[in-house]
Amino acid sequence: MTGETAGKWDRARIGQLLINLLVNAVQHGAGNISVDALGHGGQLTLVVSNEGNPIPAAALPTLFDPLTWASRPPRQSGPSSSMGLGLYISRCIAHAHNGTIQARSKDGRTTFTVQIPRFPSHVL
Ligand SMILES: Nc1ncnc2c1ncn2[C@@H]1O[C@H](COP(=O)(O)OP(=O)(O)O)[C@@H](O)[C@H]1O
Ligand SMILES: [Mg+2]
Repeated sequence: MTGETAGKWDRARIGQLLINLLVNAVQHGAGNISVDALGHGGQLTLVVSNEGNPIPAAALPTLFDPLTWASRPPRQSGPSSSMGLGLYISRCIAHAHNGTIQARSKDGRTTFTVQIPRFPSHVL
């Protein structure tokens, strides 16, 4: 953690965003997972990164769309299966906080970067 990271957000939703990224890192990645928070001016940057097979470049532009998987949809079903909604929901939460979310994946490492204002004007 670096800089001033305190802020005023929708606690449950920002928690859900982080959980979605962490579960993905465990579920879809392999090896080390790192999490970091950096405050810089009025912005907070959250970085969740994991080792493992990279997401194909062709899948990156639509990765945050609903019901989207980087390769093919998984076969299993049930409540704990891969719904293809986690990143869509994460993007909704980032946007609702006037923020952004980006994915990068290469050289065996996948990194999700969330940037949100520390004090979004409409979060009371
Ligand atoms: N940390 C990650 N490492 C590798 N692939 C990932 C990671 N996060 C997401 N993905 C890919 O993006 C797809 C969409 O993620 P998500 O919307 O959370 O749906 P899912 O329910 O499949 O986890 C996943 O199915 C996976 O192919
Ligand atoms: Mg997921």
